Amino acid sequence: MKIMANVSKASSSKAADVSAIGVFENGKPPKILSDKKVSLKAGETFLAGDTLFIGLGKKEKFTLEKVRVAAARLLAQGRASRARGVRLDLDSFWEKFSLAEIAGAAAEGARLADYRFARYKSKPKPVHEIGSFELVSKHADQARALRRAAAEAETITQGVFFTRDLANEPPNVMTPERLAQAAREMARKNNLTCKVLGLNEIKKLKMGGVIGVSQGSVHPPQFIILENKVKGARPLVLVGKGITFDTGGISIKPSNDMDKMKFDMCGAAAVIGAMKVIANLKLPVRVVGIAPVCENMPGGRAQRPGDIVRAMNGKTIEVLNTDAEGRLILADALAYAARYKPKALVDIATLTGACAATFADLCSGVMGTDRDLVNRIKEAGEETGERVWELPMWEEYFDLIRATYADIQNISKKYAGTITAAMFLKEFADHTASWAHLDIAGTAWNESHPKPLSPIGATGVGVRLFVKLVKSYS
Ligand code: BES
Ligand code: MN
Ligand code: ZN
Repeated sequence: MKIMANVSKASSSKAADVSAIGVFENGKPPKILSDKKVSLKAGETFLAGDTLFIGLGKKEKFTLEKVRVAAARLLAQGRASRARGVRLDLDSFWEKFSLAEIAGAAAEGARLADYRFARYKSKPKPVHEIGSFELVSKHADQARALRRAAAEAETITQGVFFTRDLANEPPNVMTPERLAQAAREMARKNNLTCKVLGLNEIKKLKMGGVIGVSQGSVHPPQFIILENKVKGARPLVLVGKGITFDTGGISIKPSNDMDKMKFDMCGAAAVIGAMKVIANLKLPVRVVGIAPVCENMPGGRAQRPGDIVRAMNGKTIEVLNTDAEGRLILADALAYAARYKPKALVDIATLTGACAATFADLCSGVMGTDRDLVNRIKEAGEETGERVWELPMWEEYFDLIRATYADIQNISKKYAGTITAAMFLKEFADHTASWAHLDIAGTAWNESHPKPLSPIGATGVGVRLFVKLVKSYS
């Protein structure tokens, strides 16, 4: 599918098989709708001949997410109508935002909705392919801006697709070594530097968390470091949890749905995908992307509940549950980030089932030590539709993870699982005054229902949010 931004003064330039028009609840209704006494609520659609009317709700409540979803709806209608091409009338959506922002969101929505992961299907289900997705406007003076916005959306969604592809791969294929290889290749093609530390270097750095988690697996741990080529003293550092498969280890998980734990590297995949976009957009901000990558397996050499490990910053951790492994590898990665003296440090992880239990798949959890950073993340979440919601980090929560024999334990006895995980991480990010943590346990993949912008499987959450966040520092 080719996405094109076209401007023309005439009302109809080229023929498209399905055209979409946005309809605000408190705007002037198109004649055909008032004739037919149809009023569209937000999200409702009405097909009249080859025109798809899409309800956008009240102008005051308009968001770019409504544009993305409208574009996805048009794509679906085009498929159902077996159209060769579809077109979206940008001008009918023009409220609150710039026309270029509308165009960018439409291109993004159309592309995001066009993703499939079918490489292991011998006979992929045939879908009707749309040849062209046109974004049209009568405002000729905006032509350049619209084309630019559509091109940027292509770059961004390529990063999202890269992340989805990495995460959708089965866990026998996407091992720590393979993920590191994928990061290396991506870096080579996208003008990033990439360094991967292997077991020996990880041991030299005394990353006790990474070593403990990986020791039950035949796959050695990998520690990926990506960096864009922007000069500047203090970078923004992004850290992603990369557990290529989480069995729980000796504290083994129940077998129901354990297959979903191939997605436990979605944080790492999001960082890698975001770095690809950051490089391609040439964002003028120094960014370092870090991903500690392990497989969490039980076995004769696996770590045990009761083990005490020492993280890279010297703090000792009592491993009371080997299934709380994400925080162990993040502890080392966050401590490692100290060498960059980050101006902001953000980690992203499928960290706690409790976060999915709290929010379902409607938003990710966010917690942090810096108001400004958390606010930037919230704003980026609103703008991209990758919503986040903050949970408190009151210091009394730390009491729940004080250990009997070590400095800190990796689980709290009960309750507040998402917050106590963040309190744990904070102990290893204390070298900077600006740290935040994103828990994407509920948002990293669609389990049973597709969403308008992502089918079942990895969503690529975090990529677009990180790109917005980086832009906010430029
Ligand atoms: N990767 C899981 C968290 C998870 C579970 C994400 C389900 C998405 C869906 C993580 O490593 C984990 O197992 N966390 C435990 C922590 C507990 C032992 C304190 C959890 O959430 O149960
Ligand atoms: Mn686990
Ligand atoms: Zn995990």
